Amino acid sequence: SPSDPTLVERAQRAKAALGDRLFVLGHHYQRDEVIQFADVTGDSFKLAREAAARPEAEFIVFCGVHFMAESADILTSEAQKVVLPDLGAGCSMADMAALSQVETAWELLEDLGIAGSTVPVTYMNSSADIKGFVGRNGGVVCTSSNAERALTWAFERGSKVLFLPDQHLGRNTAVLEMGFDLEDCVLYDPHKPNGGLTPEQLRDARMILWRGHCSVHGRFTLGCVEEVRERVPGVNVLVHPECRHEVVTAADHVGSTEYIIRTVEAAPAGSSWAVGTELNLVRRLANAHPDKQIMFLDRNVCYCSTMNRIDLPTSCGRWRSWPPAAWSTRSRSTPTRHTTRASRLTRC
Ligand code: 13P
Ligand code: SF4
Repeated sequence: SPSDPTLVERAQRAKAALGDRLFVLGHHYQRDEVIQFADVTGDSFKLAREAAARPEAEFIVFCGVHFMAESADILTSEAQKVVLPDLGAGCSMADMAALSQVETAWELLEDLGIAGSTVPVTYMNSSADIKGFVGRNGGVVCTSSNAERALTWAFERGSKVLFLPDQHLGRNTAVLEMGFDLEDCVLYDPHKPNGGLTPEQLRDARMILWRGHCSVHGRFTLGCVEEVRERVPGVNVLVHPECRHEVVTAADHVGSTEYIIRTVEAAPAGSSWAVGTELNLVRRLANAHPDKQIMFLDRNVCYCSTMNRIDLPTSCGRWRSWPPAAWSTRSRSTPTRHTTRASRLTRC
């Protein structure tokens, strides 16, 4: 918890002073100490919509990670300032696809004569320049709550999809929601020549999956599911689609963070839930529903380290000086280790 005991009160006062000029968004994986100040909480899809729906807000503080704030920045007007409290709050998955790597992959598809029939689809969890590449090449951006709709749209326009950067969301959606075979999917490794694939594999594939994954959801294993089923009879296993295919296949329910929350809320008292997503959210769900047994799917604690970089001192501690005098000079950020594009995102 924050060491400065006056921090909460000061942040409350500063927020009240700014009134409607300030709008605070909080992703479900944020710490409690940050979430308490959010005007709206949500998954990345809901938060992007909320940001776009606030033209009156001069300052949008995005308590989440870089690609989310960057997306809000794209969806809001030039006059609005989107603030990411810590520019080092990136996403390891988004960092697994660099524009130059994606361009190399696309050139390979062009050389093989299959780029024309391939629609690129990128998960929201990617940098703005990847989203731009996808847009320029007739593709679309999806989130975990609309991936099936996005893939359906893409397959109406081409016979193949290049799915970036989360292999698991791409595979799980294609196989479990759209009835594809696992053999329809190939894994493109940007660190290997030709992605580690033969021309035949690329020509035959319907889904070309980028070799990227979430460092949090990728930790859950089939063993975790088996262990909890043995330990807690009747337990419901509820996971995010960024989990590995074998984990999602073995689970009872799969969906985005908003879906996970809705499912737990609708569950009957006394039911047991092992939830495979980020720990801040699972903890909050457990605290909010003491009548249900809610546990983390993996017994080893796992937060998203970059989501956790946003804490009360970084996100709210400087609100007393808002809006900062030197705002315009601060609004040109430089990329950090976790960021892939200089944008007009601002830190406080
Ligand atoms: P959603 O917010 O789309 O559920 O995605 C989860 C996630 O990992 C965000 O980084
Ligand atoms: Fe990225 Fe995974 Fe963290 Fe989400 S939970 S920000 S996908 S590393």
